[in-house]
Amino acid sequence: MCQILTDAASCYFCTFAHLFKLKVSRISMDLLQSLDRTKLPQHIAIIMDGNGRWAKEHGQDRVYGHHEGVLSVRDIVNGCAEIGIGYLTLYAFSTENWNRPKAEVDALMELLVNTIRKEVDELKKNNVRMHVIGDFDSLPDVCKKELNEAMEITSSNTGLNLILALSYSSRWELVNASKKMVADALAGKLKEEDVTEELFNSYLNTAQFPDPELMIRTSGEYRISNFLMYQLSYAELYFTPVHWPAFRKQNLYEALLDYQKRERRFGKTSEQIQKTSTQHV
Ligand code: FPP
Repeated sequence: MCQILTDAASCYFCTFAHLFKLKVSRISMDLLQSLDRTKLPQHIAIIMDGNGRWAKEHGQDRVYGHHEGVLSVRDIVNGCAEIGIGYLTLYAFSTENWNRPKAEVDALMELLVNTIRKEVDELKKNNVRMHVIGDFDSLPDVCKKELNEAMEITSSNTGLNLILALSYSSRWELVNASKKMVADALAGKLKEEDVTEELFNSYLNTAQFPDPELMIRTSGEYRISNFLMYQLSYAELYFTPVHWPAFRKQNLYEALLDYQKRERRFGKTSEQIQKTSTQHV
């Protein structure tokens, strides 16, 4: 409702905003309808970048951008759940993010705790199961407590698996996996000939999840930034200039439509792929 005029219909700005919203949701619906539901990725991974730049463009401080970023998290989690995506991994805080100014790190941790606290009932209701990957022990106690509770509360959910990468980096994960393998080898539980890709995978934080088929990075940077480097080996990469706080379902559908146009060859030739797909028709 317009706060300036009591009669919303007579306010030019309200009418314009309303029409704009209708247009956006119409575009969103059209995009959704163009999606081939049989060709959706099972697992989407997202580098949520650009909160700071978005805030600056709006004349606000960086923390404001992170707060607005939570609205995008909610929209994208709902969007993925609605269309039946199995796994969504969000890069919410990297190992390197600990090097940011203390005030920003504290604000991000507080935001994480408050968001989980506020959203957990909705996650439960929407059949979303929450997981965390990363150096869990390095998180503040209050975060660990809230995350453990949310994982427990949602543990019997069978819909979307929402995986938060927190205090995570690929190099940390790979070094950690190697250390655990060495420890098992020294304890006589592991021999050189046992080491296969499958076994190596079982030492990763992501052992229980399939590899992502689609990786989205917002805000116009073309980097992987230490994110799921092993698991993204065959992922399709999608980069968009849209900053994370402005990234909504419509943008997700655009990424998915782009993904559906790609030919995933896994080292084979295009002819081989086409032959197999016609055999399956
Ligand atoms: C990158 O933008 C974003 C982050 C480091 C944090 C992401 C956190 C959220 C979206 C909110 C909390 C998330 C959850 C899951 C509750 P940036 O700060 O690097 O932006 P910039 O590159 O423009 O500076």
